[in-house]
Amino acid sequence: MQSTLRESASKMSKDTDPSLVVADSLADEVRRDLTQSPKQLKPHYLYDTLGSRLFEAICALPEYPITRAEHGLLDTHAEAISADMAGPVTLVELGGGNGQKLAQLIEPLARSNWGLRVELVDVSVTALDLAKQTLERFRGLPVICHETTYELGLARVTRHRPDQGGMLVAFLGSNLGNLDSRSALGFVSVVRSVLRSGDRFLLGLDLVKPESELLLAYDDPLGVTAAFNKNILSRLNRELGSDFSLEHFRHHVEWNEAASRVEMHLESLCSQTVWIPGAHCRIPFADGEMIWTESSRKYQLHEIKALGAQAGFTVREQWVDTEARFAVTCFEVV
Ligand code: AVI
Repeated sequence: MQSTLRESASKMSKDTDPSLVVADSLADEVRRDLTQSPKQLKPHYLYDTLGSRLFEAICALPEYPITRAEHGLLDTHAEAISADMAGPVTLVELGGGNGQKLAQLIEPLARSNWGLRVELVDVSVTALDLAKQTLERFRGLPVICHETTYELGLARVTRHRPDQGGMLVAFLGSNLGNLDSRSALGFVSVVRSVLRSGDRFLLGLDLVKPESELLLAYDDPLGVTAAFNKNILSRLNRELGSDFSLEHFRHHVEWNEAASRVEMHLESLCSQTVWIPGAHCRIPFADGEMIWTESSRKYQLHEIKALGAQAGFTVREQWVDTEARFAVTCFEVV
């Protein structure tokens, strides 16, 4: 169900390569996705300004271990991640959130690497602003923001990269987990295709763990994740004038063992019809019918290595936290 990153492109910039973009508007995508069976909404629509703030709050929840585990790994291994890279290094972060993990990667590079520059790629302007603010403490460090999809941003960054020096592309926070397996391989292959010998790709992915832990991480007792999920309906009300009643939908999470993913849905609590004037459609819901809003794939260590290898990367190193919750894998192009 999950879209490829290419399909999810919703913003076009001046130097967009038209062959890479399907420029669906929110209205077109919503109409198409809510008239499919099962109904769905693209997960990137979760991240408007409020959604990005709610996601920040999720990262601070005790039940959501991803962010803390990854911070711990980056703290310990930041030096090794960029060790011996040819300078000047270009550090690219795809969908980085608030910039704190990026700051951890920058510390050793800023000490040893002249000419370091940082490129941030995200569809969320809120996330880009937050990251830029975080990086202000590195005085004089060039930070270039690209408010666009990962693929378009990467294409732009690599097209304009210096002739000399290595590139480190970071894709952290288990963001790849929001793609299905085929799209994930497609995306990692795209990353590989734009990199050159000596470049590295740093991939942070959440690991399979007991179902009860996974469900709690996506259905926390405070209801922050429920608010994050339901905010997608508020967004449609705000931006398309729809009349979703939030109290008539329920946050629903399940573990799909066969696909190794947590699935997030919004369940209609009654039979109802929602009018979406901005998308020129009326959407009927049966009692109990779901809208699929996100999937979070959980990986085994060997699957992560195999994914990189299939895309043409060599594994440089893989690190796992002491509780085996999360892995950071550093791939390279040889
Ligand atoms: C951004 N992404 C990796 C998060 C995840 O875990 O799939 C988004 C999220 N959804 C609910 N909680 C967090």
